[in-house]
Amino acid sequence: MADWRSYDTIAEAYERIWAPRFETVARHLLAAAPPVQGSRLLDLGTGMGAVASALADKIRTLRAVVGCDLSFGMLGKARHRVPQLRLVVGDMTRLPFRDASFDVATANCVLSHLADYQSGLAEVVRVLARPGAFATASWGPSSDPYAAAWKELLEGAVGADTAQRTVDLVVPSESRFSSPENVRTALIDAGFTTARVSLAELAHECSVDEYLADRELGASGRFGRHALGDPGCRRFLGTATSEFGRRFGDRVSYSRPLVLGVGTLR
Ligand SMILES: C[S@@+](CC[C@H](N)C(=O)[O-])C[C@H]1O[C@@H](n2cnc3c(N)ncnc32)[C@H](O)[C@@H]1O
Repeated sequence: MADWRSYDTIAEAYERIWAPRFETVARHLLAAAPPVQGSRLLDLGTGMGAVASALADKIRTLRAVVGCDLSFGMLGKARHRVPQLRLVVGDMTRLPFRDASFDVATANCVLSHLADYQSGLAEVVRVLARPGAFATASWGPSSDPYAAAWKELLEGAVGADTAQRTVDLVVPSESRFSSPENVRTALIDAGFTTARVSLAELAHECSVDEYLADRELGASGRFGRHALGDPGCRRFLGTATSEFGRRFGDRVSYSRPLVLGVGTLR
């Protein structure tokens, strides 16, 4: 049976539901640290290549663009979506690259997944040349009523402790990297010469059905399907749809902060 924690299990739905939004995040990331012509770029946790897609025509001006990810399912999608991206299966905490192989590294919504984020950042410092730059994006805290309602309903279905413990298995560093100060500290502690952090705000409006389909892809939703099984998960989603309709009507509209960190090496 497929491991519910892996992105392999959700690659199809990710492409349909999440890929456009992560490309928007990637455009913010690239605006914070635009790669210069001729540079070699490594995109860590590349997934289906959101950063490379967001580069658009600029990709042709770079010397190399390499995407590295643990998930074969996600990389399979990247191969079709961005044929110019060179793909490597690998773990960000043990990168299969020589020292100083890249000028720029990016990690778009990836650091939250690393329990040992210090090893991941140490690897980024190792594979970057001097001068070099690393740009990271992570979600800030979600403080909207929809996220709170989803959490409450899911915890009701699978148990609060279990839900939290299992989410921690997928995104153990999510709360750490939701704080701008923690992002800055992590970059400096990793050895970057400078670290600057900025915030962006991403607004989103969609139907309740689309919102719940989005939540199903997150760590808690994936665990929900695993714990409840397909029929149980369908029943849970039916209940969640009615409850969201009762509380909020047909549509949801919210915004979520994005934390953008840029570390440079001299
Ligand atoms: C939220 S997705 C983001 C994907 C892509 N950066 C984007 O913006 O669409 C997180 C990605 O990080 C990958 N990932 C998680 N832990 C990883 C690790 N230790 N090394 C490499 N990739 C990892 C997952 O497989 C997944 O594709």
